[in-house]
Amino acid sequence: MPLEIKPLSPALGAEIAGLDLRDELPAAVVAEIIEAWHEHLVLSFRNQELTEDDQIRFARHFGALQKRTRPPQAINEFGHTKYPELTMLVSNIRDNGKLIGSLPDGEMHFHSDQCYLEKPAAGTLLYAIEVPSAGGDTLFLNMYKAYDGLPAELQARIDGRRALNAYLYDSTTRAINGAKVDFTAHPHYVQPMVRTHPATGRKALYVNRLMTFTVDGMDEADGTALLNALFDHMEQQKFIYAHHWRVGDLVLWDNRCTLHARTDFSGRERRLLRRYVVMGDRVY
Ligand SMILES: [Fe+2]
Repeated sequence: MPLEIKPLSPALGAEIAGLDLRDELPAAVVAEIIEAWHEHLVLSFRNQELTEDDQIRFARHFGALQKRTRPPQAINEFGHTKYPELTMLVSNIRDNGKLIGSLPDGEMHFHSDQCYLEKPAAGTLLYAIEVPSAGGDTLFLNMYKAYDGLPAELQARIDGRRALNAYLYDSTTRAINGAKVDFTAHPHYVQPMVRTHPATGRKALYVNRLMTFTVDGMDEADGTALLNALFDHMEQQKFIYAHHWRVGDLVLWDNRCTLHARTDFSGRERRLLRRYVVMGDRVY
């Protein structure tokens, strides 16, 4: 029986209904999900009840997952599984004043996970355990369409060019431009500004407002002007799907052809999501 696949917006995203992700999925169903992922870039599965183990088992269908580099720590009440995969909590919840999750609160600008590494994340799976009543949405941006929609003159300026991506810890919005920052003090990598998706062969724009700072071979002013023109072009409503989280949502996205951002939410409400990362390859 074919899967029930419902597009979520004209830009990207689809919901897949009728599956309980705790079940062992037949290979044919997994193949259909992967095909839908490549077509829609972001997949949402609602009303799930997933333990860490369930989420890991499902996530492994999409590739090898990022592993822990340190021994499991009892960082929170959710603990860790027997598996070597890294469980990351995205949360604003504090236990005795200490944040139990891994990322700061509040609004977060558009980015692609791990674009500052030589081999960035291919996919990310986020599962909602607690969500605020308003805000804290995740915005997804279709970077194939952003690239295809560029004026030919801009495409020609960036094809074959590279830009520096860096992760400035604790910074969820772009507060600076590049020149005065010592990027060697932060995880950083120079990536192609346009990349080819290894599965679909399509070209996608690969720069983002949060983590892309300087353009290789351009001076600061020209590079900043070029990047700002690209950011403004990309971040148009027609390329975006806004996901309003409900408890039990499992969302899978493709970091090779999408960006994501978070809208602000009240610090008085709790937000807790559990994340696994599918590892990727060198960008080309
Ligand atoms: Fe992210």
